[in-house]
Amino acid sequence: MAPFRARAARPHAVPQPRRTLALLVPGLVLALCGFGAAQVVAAAAAPGVRPALGTPAGLEPARDYHTYANTHEFRVQHLDLALDVDFEAKRLSGAVDLRLERLAAEADRVVLDTNGLVIRRAWLVDGEAVQPLEFRLDDGIPVLGRPLVLTLPESVRGRSPLTVRISYQTTPQAQGLQWLTPAQTAGKRHPFLFSQSQSIYARTWIPLQDTPQVRYTYTARITTPKALRAVMGAVNDAAAPLDGDFAFEMPQPIPSYLMAIAVGELEFRATGPRSGVYAEPSVVERAAREFVDTERMIEAGERLFGPYRWGRYDILVLPPSFPYGGMENPRLTFATPTILAGDRSLVALIAHELAHSWSGNLVTNASWRDFWLNEGFTVFAESKIQGELYGAARRAQEDALGAQSLVRELARLAPRDQVLAVDLRERGPEEGFTPIPYEKGRFFLNWLESRAGEERFMAWLRGYFDHFAFRSLHTEQFLEYLEATLVARSEGRIRMDEVREWVYGPGLPQGAVLATSDAFERVDAERGRFLAGTPAAALATQGWTTQQWQHFLDGMPRTLARAQLGELDAAFGFTRSDNAEIEFSWFRNVIRNRYEPAYARLEQYLVGIGRRKLIKPLYEDLMATGAENAAFARRVYALARPGYHPIAQTSIDAVVK
Ligand code: BES
Ligand code: ZN
Repeated sequence: MAPFRARAARPHAVPQPRRTLALLVPGLVLALCGFGAAQVVAAAAAPGVRPALGTPAGLEPARDYHTYANTHEFRVQHLDLALDVDFEAKRLSGAVDLRLERLAAEADRVVLDTNGLVIRRAWLVDGEAVQPLEFRLDDGIPVLGRPLVLTLPESVRGRSPLTVRISYQTTPQAQGLQWLTPAQTAGKRHPFLFSQSQSIYARTWIPLQDTPQVRYTYTARITTPKALRAVMGAVNDAAAPLDGDFAFEMPQPIPSYLMAIAVGELEFRATGPRSGVYAEPSVVERAAREFVDTERMIEAGERLFGPYRWGRYDILVLPPSFPYGGMENPRLTFATPTILAGDRSLVALIAHELAHSWSGNLVTNASWRDFWLNEGFTVFAESKIQGELYGAARRAQEDALGAQSLVRELARLAPRDQVLAVDLRERGPEEGFTPIPYEKGRFFLNWLESRAGEERFMAWLRGYFDHFAFRSLHTEQFLEYLEATLVARSEGRIRMDEVREWVYGPGLPQGAVLATSDAFERVDAERGRFLAGTPAAALATQGWTTQQWQHFLDGMPRTLARAQLGELDAAFGFTRSDNAEIEFSWFRNVIRNRYEPAYARLEQYLVGIGRRKLIKPLYEDLMATGAENAAFARRVYALARPGYHPIAQTSIDAVVK
């Protein structure tokens, strides 16, 4: 994406200078101890160079550089949505009422975020009386959309709260929505619609203050074709009649990136007293079996992190084009069907999305620079939940896979992208979506825990969730809180300069310990035997977990002989595996070695699945491994692209050229 400057609508918001690279630590080298490294140790910075680690010059930590909204003058408190879902036109149309708290007595305009919306009319709502408002859509930067400026009449100067109504419709290209034809669903009979608002796509289907710094409650009235069910990240009534008219209420205040809706042929199965699953009829039983442990996960979460404050926890299983693994929409996690492995081996993803009920949804990143506060804490919490439910051995395997992805990514990413608080001033928020906020964030918390002691750290964490509940915070606020609460009471065991190195420095600090797994050592040994000539069928693989198979395949050398691949496939049936993660790891080997017997299945996989994490690396591999593979990628992408979500299309367009 071309660099841009966030020309915010705020009068005091001046374009920021580009950050120089002078802050980067010269000579920071990663020394990796073998594959699946047990420890990654960063060598000290070049002698005499002690870089100042801290907030980049000129950056305002409290500011969200990805919104146009004048949130210092008005803040949305409550939102009422009334939308009709038109599958023919691929359009949502209706109106939104925003109740605004006034923070500045003199402010005479309200600036909202929009992207690709058609704004029809705007009014000021005063009880029954409505009064038309002047409005205009200013120019904006493509990634951020266009600011909608409403001009308030003199008569409401100083008045608070104020309600404005905007009548609008979406366009078929809305980045935050995917409209599926019946053929793209499991049932093949009805169309399907779902939203994906994180990070800044809520503004492509609702005009609002699209920033995680503002929270509001909402109600919604959604009309749909009959026979379909609408669900939202709100209170859902699984027994609501299919009469084409659905009402929702969200009593807990949420930031805009958690706005969520889906409409399709959906059924519900309970999995516990406060949990259940929505999915298409042919998927719902399988999903309910996969997610039997949901209630136990919630209970573990409550023991570890404090009360679950959202009432219910349901899961919506989407069609396979859902571009993410999961999305933590409050009260209703959205999930890819690629985690339905049949053996519950991929439910860590549910633990992850559930954990966001504390880290992210309750305590929220103030801007996308602080994304690691959402995701790093969540990976940490997910791992704790997995340990409680499935024991230390499984947890260690999942953690070790995470560590490996971090090590791989550190070798690829520019230093400025290796820091937890990534400066995104001139970039889209998605550019911070790497394993760094997730895995480096998690290992930072593991490090804090190891220094503080588990008991003290977990008590601190519960206190943190309590203290910031239903609020957002930025990195520097976090550091201040950490210093006052944990570091100050650590009797010198934790030092702030070490903490700052984790947060602001690239790479991994000295002494960082990454997860390893004994079970993976056994896998390494078997892989070694295979590579030394033992027939695949003679390897000791009985009882291996999904994660062990992933590790087995991920650790293969770059080049394998065709006969070796054939032997592996004959012994273990990778090409026909119905575990999407194992297939993914297998296909990476297939592509590197052009193992043609698997290409037909690879094509089906790429056409059938739209989860970005599973397909983008495969396209990247194909494009990087010769003309034939590149031609295959182009041909398959042309077939697959129409079925992908706009978010996946945009990122894979940049790969397959
Ligand atoms: N909140 C994220 C998904 C997300 C992040 C969407 C940024 C858009 C922008 C979600 O919680 C997540 O992290 N999902 C992961 C799965 C998880 C197990 C690491 C995914 O989708 O791969
Ligand atoms: Zn997450």
